[in-house]
Amino acid sequence: MRNNLVWHHHPVDQSVRAEQKDQRPAVIWFTGLSASGKSTLAGALEETLTAQGYHTYLLDGDNVRHGLCKDLGFSDADRTENIRRIGEVARLMADAGLIVMTAFISPFRADRRIAREILPAGQFVEVFMDASLEVCKERDPKGLYIKAERGEIKQFTGIDSPYEIPPEPEVHIDADRFSVPQGVNLLLDYLHEQKILRRGYQRVAEEIVA
Ligand code: ADX
Repeated sequence: MRNNLVWHHHPVDQSVRAEQKDQRPAVIWFTGLSASGKSTLAGALEETLTAQGYHTYLLDGDNVRHGLCKDLGFSDADRTENIRRIGEVARLMADAGLIVMTAFISPFRADRRIAREILPAGQFVEVFMDASLEVCKERDPKGLYIKAERGEIKQFTGIDSPYEIPPEPEVHIDADRFSVPQGVNLLLDYLHEQKILRRGYQRVAEEIVA
């Protein structure tokens, strides 16, 4: 108990809400460098799941920084606070019965561990978008790596701010090579194996690689 606050247990809890939606709530936590493909893959997964009747919500880095976290920058302390807030919001959304996707660099292991530990066991799925710095720099959709290398942006992840690789992610994506449909299928298979997609699912068509 903190500051005389008491946690209320209400009769409508996560299991009731999950039952109503006929799904198992989870937080699918994408982590990786800027331009590693987190938002793209999380967005494609959300679209696929929604089309198949699952109830989802995507918390996306750049969007959240326009509102909930607009007071935060990119110092280590601000990133930690960013991830703490997102972890708490994701937990509330999972408590509401949703399959939540989060797409944030989330560079620090300790911060990701906290997000994992506030959720019930088995509800945190860490997805490591393992893209090399070279490939991210080539993609550079927002031109930020160029600016960071010129010193116009400070504390840029991978340039002058660290990224701590997840030692044991639930899903490891070879993000230099993956196609979006291949990534979606890998995730669908994993989520089904974990009984998160308990109603079943349909894989998406993968491009034919010549
Ligand atoms: S996190 O480190 O706190 O998890 P978050 O995912 O919210 O970062 O935001 C990263 C996005 O902010 C990047 O994709 C990029 O568009 C933008 N950005 C702006 N400045 C920086 C910076 N110094 N380091 C990393 N990303 C930055």
